[in-house]
Amino acid sequence: MCGIVGYIGEKDIDNVILVGLERLEYRGYDSCGIATIKNGDLKLKKAAGRLQKLKQSVTNSPLGGGIGIGHTRWATHGKVCDENAHPFSDCTNTIALVHNGIVENYREVKEELNKAGHKFISDTDTEVVVHLIESYYKDNLIKAVLKAVSKLRGSYSLAIISKKEPEKLIGVKMGSPLVIGIGRKEYILASDTLALVGIAKQVVPLQDKEVCVLTKEQMEIFDFDHHEVNRPSQPIGFRAKAVSKGRYRHFMRKEIFEQPKVISHNIVKRVRNSHIVLDPDFRFYPEDLVRFNKILIQACGTSYHAGLIGRYYLEKFCRIPTTVEIASELRTRDFIIDEETLMVAISQSGETADTLAALREAKLKDMKTISIVNVKRSSIDRESDSILYINAGPEIGVASTKAYTAQIFTLLILALHIGHYRQTISEPETAKILKEAKKIPALMTKTLNLDHHLKAAAKKLSLVRNFIFLGRGINYPSALEGALKLKEISYIHATGYPAGEMKHGPISLITEDVPVVCIAVKDSVYDKMMSNIAEAKARKGKIVVFGTEGDKSLKDLAEEVFYVPDVPEYFTPLLVALPLQLLAYHIAVMRGCDVDKPRNLAKSVTVE
Ligand code: AGP
Repeated sequence: MCGIVGYIGEKDIDNVILVGLERLEYRGYDSCGIATIKNGDLKLKKAAGRLQKLKQSVTNSPLGGGIGIGHTRWATHGKVCDENAHPFSDCTNTIALVHNGIVENYREVKEELNKAGHKFISDTDTEVVVHLIESYYKDNLIKAVLKAVSKLRGSYSLAIISKKEPEKLIGVKMGSPLVIGIGRKEYILASDTLALVGIAKQVVPLQDKEVCVLTKEQMEIFDFDHHEVNRPSQPIGFRAKAVSKGRYRHFMRKEIFEQPKVISHNIVKRVRNSHIVLDPDFRFYPEDLVRFNKILIQACGTSYHAGLIGRYYLEKFCRIPTTVEIASELRTRDFIIDEETLMVAISQSGETADTLAALREAKLKDMKTISIVNVKRSSIDRESDSILYINAGPEIGVASTKAYTAQIFTLLILALHIGHYRQTISEPETAKILKEAKKIPALMTKTLNLDHHLKAAAKKLSLVRNFIFLGRGINYPSALEGALKLKEISYIHATGYPAGEMKHGPISLITEDVPVVCIAVKDSVYDKMMSNIAEAKARKGKIVVFGTEGDKSLKDLAEEVFYVPDVPEYFTPLLVALPLQLLAYHIAVMRGCDVDKPRNLAKSVTVE
């Protein structure tokens, strides 16, 4: 999952490309590069390492020009080194190209090109593409590009320039995202709308098997058969503030503290006079919702954890048997379903390859699909029968925070909506829950006041090498999520486990060196959770508990106790998530980790 940018216009090309790459750096940051055309010359700079290094080099010796492309990489094929950084150029340094995705048949294409005398400097799949275009180029770049892509298999979004046709910026979309930003006598191409902010107010999302030819004067879009395609533009939908850290040190911290506002915004959008309002893109009729007799939730990572909480809501309020699957496992299993099974795909980015693949599998099986996404116009958005947006705004920190709680809230709304039509929850009950929901943003804000206490606790915990997170019932997924947050940004090994399962093996891991983070809020499994904590304590585990305000009994059990407000059980994951996120955040900061761009990770996993 890399980030690509292309620009044609009158602005300072170096600055536009570098700012665009900065906005896309969350997609991958192993290496980066830029290529421009100035006075008929193709100029190129690239290197392994972070964008800051490239910025320094470009500041010292700007490339200049009126057209250019840029790339920030998450390595798939080929190790992280200068040679494998994008952009790549052809043998005569005429054409330059950047790529996001994976060309699956690059080896066979490379073999043919080697035989034809092409020389390669890298072991990437991408470099093959620019040489393939060169091999077809006579005097028309778009024709050469169309011939080349007809030979490729896999997923690829490309941005291409050539010094022989310096007035054209070409984009190709197949499998990986690519959008066009429309400015005043300027166009910008990017992997994500975030990079367009400040240049364009309108965006055109390309669809698969489409190419665009952008000049300063016009935008043309064609399908792979070179037939013109008409794609209406849409407003970008957010402002520059959304993509800046503002007064926060990290995007992750900003997004943690945005959560009360996000839930509040969703309540306003979704609740009207104790009734639920869904998006116009939610296209299921009541009779559809009543017909389903099974729900299959599928997602990856944090979204999967949200799905596990969604199962509680759907089974409690809709009485529908619900299973939750990890997308990468589901898609490789010829899973058995019937036409009464509804698939719910959950994805913040809407581009996660495994989740998208599982969604496509479901459609091949004639399943109806609802997707819960954050990024509008994303692939999963476009390919689902019905959509529920989580309205969290751009989430840039690689570790998902506000999207997670927004997903949970949206799943609750979905469950109440379906339950209403299935008559498994009464209107008064629904009204009561929605009334309670209105208190959640303020209670989240109150919970965020634990920040200083968590920071103090992090000081004691930041050198620990192993953590165990335990939860039960609706907060077993909270334990999984707490462990994932910690491990992905602090690089400490952390296991999330169902507390009742500890005695079946993992309890052997507990010693005085292992903090056992327990979620023991006052809910239906509280007593059993207290027994599990006692079992851990008896083995000298260092107990850290997240409990309900007023529960004094926890102080005797634990070295650290963090209290969250007393709310009905089904709201507890929304509150518990916040201190778990902050604990991970502070530990990672104290360990000097790059909280927003953790090593080896990227925000949107668009490769399998
Ligand atoms: C969450 O903190 C991780 N960054 C990761 O697990 C993420 O949730 C997962 O890759 C799924 O992404 P998606 O929601 O965009 O599909």
